[in-house]
Amino acid sequence: MTHEALAGGIPLCNAQDLLDGGKAVPFDVVYCGRSARGFAIRYQGQAHAYLNQCAHVPMEMDYQPNRFFDGTGQWLMCATHGAMYRPDTGACSGGPCRGGLIKIALTESDGVVHWHTAYNLKPLEF
Ligand code: FES
Repeated sequence: MTHEALAGGIPLCNAQDLLDGGKAVPFDVVYCGRSARGFAIRYQGQAHAYLNQCAHVPMEMDYQPNRFFDGTGQWLMCATHGAMYRPDTGACSGGPCRGGLIKIALTESDGVVHWHTAYNLKPLEF
């Protein structure tokens, strides 16, 4: 990853804030023109982020704030009807989800995690 590619990244948290299979770090985004929330997690050493929106019914998924991993630490689970997603890809792995989670690009450099905008994904303006 070059410095140019990182230039558009928005600082999200310190790398050490994301523990493998642990609590997520939430962040605000504008997705398709409306405000929404994203969350970042770490799985098998790698940081990943997704829109906090279940692919079953478009609602937030955490059963306790920032808790997305199930008891095994192997799956991201929606609290409402139990849809399960792969932490590394967001693909649906069980339950009522139709399709997968919407992935948000992350990079880590110098101990800081940044998220990256996309054509339909912008930072929240205050
Ligand atoms: S809303 Fe997530 S499983 Fe139904």
